[in-house]
Amino acid sequence: MADPITKFAYQTFQQSKSLLGLTHKNLSTQLMRLLAPTNGEREGISPALMSQLQASMQVLLDEDYADAEAGVYPLSQLFDTPWQDIVQQYPRLWLDMPSTWQRAREKRYQDFDETVETDRYPSYYVQNFHHQTGGYLTEESAELYDLQVEILFNGTADPMRRRILRPLKQGLQALARPEKDLRVLDVACGTGRTLRHLRSALPSANLYGTDLSPAYLRKANQLLSERPGELPQLLQANAEELPYQDGFFQGVTSVFLFHELPPQARQNVINECFRVLEAGGTVVLNDSIQAIDSPEFRPLMDGFYQMFHEPYYRHYMEDDLCDRLGQAGFVDIQTSNHFMSKIWVARKPIA
Ligand SMILES: C[S@@+](CC[C@H](N)C(=O)[O-])C[C@H]1O[C@@H](n2cnc3c(N)ncnc32)[C@H](O)[C@@H]1O
Repeated sequence: MADPITKFAYQTFQQSKSLLGLTHKNLSTQLMRLLAPTNGEREGISPALMSQLQASMQVLLDEDYADAEAGVYPLSQLFDTPWQDIVQQYPRLWLDMPSTWQRAREKRYQDFDETVETDRYPSYYVQNFHHQTGGYLTEESAELYDLQVEILFNGTADPMRRRILRPLKQGLQALARPEKDLRVLDVACGTGRTLRHLRSALPSANLYGTDLSPAYLRKANQLLSERPGELPQLLQANAEELPYQDGFFQGVTSVFLFHELPPQARQNVINECFRVLEAGGTVVLNDSIQAIDSPEFRPLMDGFYQMFHEPYYRHYMEDDLCDRLGQAGFVDIQTSNHFMSKIWVARKPIA
């Protein structure tokens, strides 16, 4: 129901998250600019680009509120942020900065201490993505991850993640089955933010999550167990080889994974999403915007992969995931952009 006070509270809440990001980002961006290796001068964000960004961010927040108002998820979900974690981790993030910058300066991109077991993972994964200490492979990295993402996206990571919910629910509703009989998998679930949103939108569905990182799965389990409702079933697995039988799920989602995969792995993961979906099931992918449909934001995308260690992002920016979805067998492929994120929705055809 329309409620101006709740909407005002939501805008204020988002602004407070965005302040956390901006304050930190201004400082850290300046420092990164001084310290991170560059091929020359980087241009700052022009005033024109900044106003485009602000307008695009406001559209995202309006969509987020409108979907909650329409009952896609409860209004309370708009305020679901791990504040306690964020406040606790903020000093730790700063304490970790000097070693992060040092690693970036020295171009050490696969820097793990000897306690981290790296040999059971694909080589493309054994990286300090974003120059992150421990890559995705330590408890410390899992603790800091949500805060880092909040800062990177100016507090809009969850509004962007929630964009998967409307198309997913539409796809599931088309199957006309009781919610308790539906199975939904979140591939590369990380610390479980998307599963929290899925739980709020689909309170009685059976939820599953996989990720390669045991540390991130432990963190996800901890955060998800704070919520009422059945705990999603979490499994460690490479998304290229999902440990489920053919046609097991009615819905599959994946958020912020594809830009961190090399091209063939992207195709392998899409093929697996197709395999584990039943005929008529829906896949919803969410990742960064791409150069092919957001040329106005290209300077940001270039800055992103140059400044942070994102070895596959440059190829991802131009990669045609619609073509990949089509190659796997998906039909009714649709895309949409939401601030810094892009959504792909597709259906497995009924034979
Ligand atoms: C940028 S994070 C996104 C996490 C989460 N989906 C989110 O929205 O915050 C990328 C995640 O993908 C996982 N990942 C990367 N490659 C993977 C693979 N081949 N199989 C499974 N998980 C993978 C990482 O461990 C990490 O948790």
